[in-house]
Amino acid sequence: MPQDATASQRYWLPSLTDKGALARLAAIGAVVVAIAVCFAYVAGWLSPGRLSQARFIDRFEKLNGVHPGFRRNHAKGVCVTGSFESNGQGVRLSKAVVFAPGRVPVTGRFSLAGGHPHVADGPTAVLAMALRFQPPAGQEWRMAMIDIPVFLVKDGEGLYEQLLASQPDPKTGQPDPAKMAAFTAAHPEFLPAMQIVKSTPLPSGFSNATFNGLNAFRFVNASGAATAVRWSMVASEPFTPETPEQGKNPDKNYLFDDVIARVARGPLQWHLLVTIGQPGDPTSDPTLPWPRDRERVDVGTLTIDHVETEAPGNCRDINFDPLVLPAGIEPSDDPILSARSATYSQSFTRREGETKTPSAVQVPVGKGS
Ligand code: HEM
Repeated sequence: MPQDATASQRYWLPSLTDKGALARLAAIGAVVVAIAVCFAYVAGWLSPGRLSQARFIDRFEKLNGVHPGFRRNHAKGVCVTGSFESNGQGVRLSKAVVFAPGRVPVTGRFSLAGGHPHVADGPTAVLAMALRFQPPAGQEWRMAMIDIPVFLVKDGEGLYEQLLASQPDPKTGQPDPAKMAAFTAAHPEFLPAMQIVKSTPLPSGFSNATFNGLNAFRFVNASGAATAVRWSMVASEPFTPETPEQGKNPDKNYLFDDVIARVARGPLQWHLLVTIGQPGDPTSDPTLPWPRDRERVDVGTLTIDHVETEAPGNCRDINFDPLVLPAGIEPSDDPILSARSATYSQSFTRREGETKTPSAVQVPVGKGS
């Protein structure tokens, strides 16, 4: 190479006077800028008015406070394990591996709705069950269900507004009536849904509760036929309604302590009932119940035989994202599903990076099963 070669010639770099090289560099720069813009869009920086997952979780934190290491919703909970025994009845509806006759291991979590990890159990608490089915060859299925019959809003924006409007006024201990009136006017699905919830008796505990998936999904069978479905886990234990006396229990963990004691005495069971939707049944709005006469197929039995305190590596560190689905189960057109998936991920990312403190619910040594 000649002594007077330019730097670009010496290091085999394209010369910046070369038009082709300049065009290539500009193209690379454009790709880098486009990627940066995509990240900024997803993070919500380009549209501060858009309801991003970060803004959603900020609102949970603003209203409930930040409790490091805990879920931003359903913060109080306990871990369980067991199995799901499929009876084969689900195979005609879905090719999902979990529906082949046989047993798959399950990890789960019982929780109360709300962002306070040390809240006292009470008569109005919404009880919840989250599950992760893990067939040995993969194709796992996650779900998170609650014990009310319908959801109260039909989209993520509705819940975002409901959280703020229903916040108790410190002076009265009740939501501000003016804020609630503005909210219900903007979200007309709320009051009819609340009416359904209020007319449905609540269970006396986790062990006799029915947990409802609420959002619709699509089951696809081996021939490719798709069916709109909703599902529920219905307790084998007979339903007993909650009584006002329960609320006077001085044990602030009475609901959790009850289920821990029951599992210590013997396994608890639930039946997975799949409700088959008919053409015209709403799939994009979980505030609307389907007609009562819809066919329900019992596809198998969930057995919970072990309970343990939230700890590293158990249910504490699982994101029960309802869009973790096996082949044979697909999301419906319900917009809440993607809102849930995005916000659970944001909550999970924040809590997993934080220092942990012990859960309010402690399973006594030797009481796990
Ligand atoms: C837009 C609507 C919803 C939003 C924004 C939302 C938000 C959240 C968040 C942030 C968490 C904590 C996630 C984590 O840190 O792992 C959570 C947990 C949970 N949610 Fe939702 N949720 C919504 C709708 C629903 C619905 C419709 C159901 C029931 C069908 C439900 C049931 C649950 C349950 C059971 C848990 C606890 C899961 C666990 O134990 O990890 N959520 N939700």
